[in-house]
Amino acid sequence: MDRTRRLRRTEALRSMVREEHVRIDELIYPVFVIAGENICNPVESMPGIYQYSLDRIGEELDRVVEAGINAVLVFGIPDHKDEVGSGAYDEHGIVQEAIRLMKKEYPDLLVIADVCLCEYTSHGHCGLIRDGEILNDETLPLLAKAAVTYAQAGADIIAPSDMMDKRVAAIREALDENGFINIPILSYSAKFASGYYGPFRDAAHSAPGFGDRKTYQMDPANGQEALREVEEDILEGADMIIAKPALAYMDVIKEISLNYNIPIVAYNVSGEYAMVKAAAENGWIDEKKIVMENMVGLKRAGAKMIITYHALDVARWIKEEK
Ligand code: PBG
Ligand code: ZN
Repeated sequence: MDRTRRLRRTEALRSMVREEHVRIDELIYPVFVIAGENICNPVESMPGIYQYSLDRIGEELDRVVEAGINAVLVFGIPDHKDEVGSGAYDEHGIVQEAIRLMKKEYPDLLVIADVCLCEYTSHGHCGLIRDGEILNDETLPLLAKAAVTYAQAGADIIAPSDMMDKRVAAIREALDENGFINIPILSYSAKFASGYYGPFRDAAHSAPGFGDRKTYQMDPANGQEALREVEEDILEGADMIIAKPALAYMDVIKEISLNYNIPIVAYNVSGEYAMVKAAAENGWIDEKKIVMENMVGLKRAGAKMIITYHALDVARWIKEEK
């Protein structure tokens, strides 16, 4: 007679038959760099997350390296915004300078540059605007320019998050033309128009000044459409893809993993982090248990890597278990 409990009797047995594992070298930690000096600003809605000026970002990166984390995803908060988001493709922009510093001080750290305009535009949208419309094709050269300046600064991976159509092709072509044929593109392919980005927009000062992002980000109801997005990005030259948010979209991650042979990165986004932190601070949940369960759930769903604000804690917890 079959008894599944036989293999659950001891931790040694359970660990021997365990199907999925969360590994430190698959974690990616987001960091926020802000123009100015001597800044370490807490992000109110994301306890434990801070915006750092370049003279202090080392404090955070030392913790990252100490934790054994190999990769960071860099977001910038510039000192000025304009209609065309010029800070995003300024050779001496905040992220470009941050990347130079990171690659100089931490040469082994993988630096992933998020490519988008919303942190740099006065209207807070991810593309150029004319008559209230977010323009697609006119935005592409600006994204491509941003990608090239990040690569020139030393970025290891380029990650476009804007959700304009054809941006992977535009970025691939621009990178290749500028001699960066070996720089991979990590495309935010399945990115849904989500309420879960709220805290991030506080952290990155990137909330849209009018309207919403529903004309370019995906409808949360559409799982099948995510496969089209992924297919298109692969055809355009994406090397890896991101699905986000993560937890409410685990079915999407699973579907992608069953249909495509490409590394999938799950982005455990700011609102998901904020919910866990709030409940944990109230003593309503056990933070470590909940976070590790979320992480292994993402692995089970088919994610290869995980971008998470919990990364420093997760790395510590993994080490403690050993
Ligand atoms: C910018 C961008 C966003 C996130 C990553 N890149 C916000 C948005 O699209 O509004 C969200 C990350 C998070 O919530 O943690 N395009
Ligand atoms: Zn954006």
